[in-house]
Amino acid sequence: MNHHEAIIERGPAKYFHGRISERNALKQLLQETSKKKIGSSLLIQGPPGVGKTALIEEHKKEASLQGWQVVDLTIPSLYDPKELFRRLTKNQKAHDVQTTFGVDLKIFNVGFVPKHIEETPYLNEAIIRSQPTCLVLDEAQTLELILSENHRDKVADFFRTYHNVLSEKGFVFLFGGLSPTKDVLRQFGISRFNPKAIHYLGMIGKHAEQQIIRDWLKKEIQTPSHTTFWIQQISKQTDQWPRHIQSYANALCNYLKPKEVLTNQRLKQVLDDGNDLKNIYYQQRCDHLDYEYREMIAHVVKTLPHPFVKRHFIEAFSTFLSQKESQKLYKTMLLRGILHLDQDGKSSIPIPSLKTYLIETYGAGQPPPSQAQLLPRKR
Ligand SMILES: Nc1ncnc2c1ncn2[C@@H]1O[C@H](COP(=O)(O)OP(=O)(O)O)[C@@H](O)[C@H]1O
Ligand SMILES: [Mg+2]
Repeated sequence: MNHHEAIIERGPAKYFHGRISERNALKQLLQETSKKKIGSSLLIQGPPGVGKTALIEEHKKEASLQGWQVVDLTIPSLYDPKELFRRLTKNQKAHDVQTTFGVDLKIFNVGFVPKHIEETPYLNEAIIRSQPTCLVLDEAQTLELILSENHRDKVADFFRTYHNVLSEKGFVFLFGGLSPTKDVLRQFGISRFNPKAIHYLGMIGKHAEQQIIRDWLKKEIQTPSHTTFWIQQISKQTDQWPRHIQSYANALCNYLKPKEVLTNQRLKQVLDDGNDLKNIYYQQRCDHLDYEYREMIAHVVKTLPHPFVKRHFIEAFSTFLSQKESQKLYKTMLLRGILHLDQDGKSSIPIPSLKTYLIETYGAGQPPPSQAQLLPRKR
């Protein structure tokens, strides 16, 4: 019984709120880079569901408003000039581009293919340098996984050409990705991030959370009722976590007809449904881990003071795992969004209710056997 088309689990937000400092930082970056005629990079890093893609979409809107050409990159477009050309010209209106070899070319969005394929890289460069340009790569952590050696070199070349280049008009790389993205980009030579240019996303503010819920009730459902009580009840469950807020917004759309009056019976349905969706999200965080690992995690997070440094994490797991296994688990937990890395280099479980979920779901029994207990059996 879904009356709404607005339901989305991820990506651009219909009712975006918060992230004020991040949005101001982008505005400043755009101004500075076009004034100083330099290139810069901005990285938005954080666990799944924290709102990276939604923020990137807002950034893209802002850049477009300020007259920047905004281009979504794909991984193949980083090593294949033809693919990059397609991306660059996808939304281009016909306009003149002065190429590096002094020829004026008209770029058309439909069906224009350079006559000589060798010209493509020069054309790409010409298009990028013809206007202030923002190149966007979301999910940038995947660079690590899918590249063959041959492609790796080409991607590194690409970044070398454009990262921190002097650009007549201004140039920005906008990256989004999970916590290890900064390290992944370093492997490709992008290491000189200005500390202000990495945004570690965590929970959004209480006020923004309430505004989002209010918009779903008032603008989407268009309920005639007072919304204060509902906002209060829902925000008790959402932990200032964008993905959770979206889950309850989806529940609202599932259970309320347009312009419906708010009743207690409906509230219960919405809270139950939202809660189910929240638990599914938590299950998904764990579904790549063996059960025994989940038990270890539950027992460790019960006692480990938050936030913690990586070394404490490794030490805490040393009862159960070898150092190498603990290192691997740490990375997996970052990638799955069970851990969040903040700007001080400290880690924590990103959402309070995720910690509770882990402890209640996997921490009830005895702790799993320690290495010391296992070793004699192995021998
Ligand atoms: N600041 C925000 N305001 C409103 N909705 C948001 C905000 N941030 C994220 N969302 C919504 O939360 C959900 C998860 O966000 P998403 O950007 O997909 O997360 P990520 O890319 O970090 O995995 C999406 O449905 C998105 O629209
Ligand atoms: Mg995303």
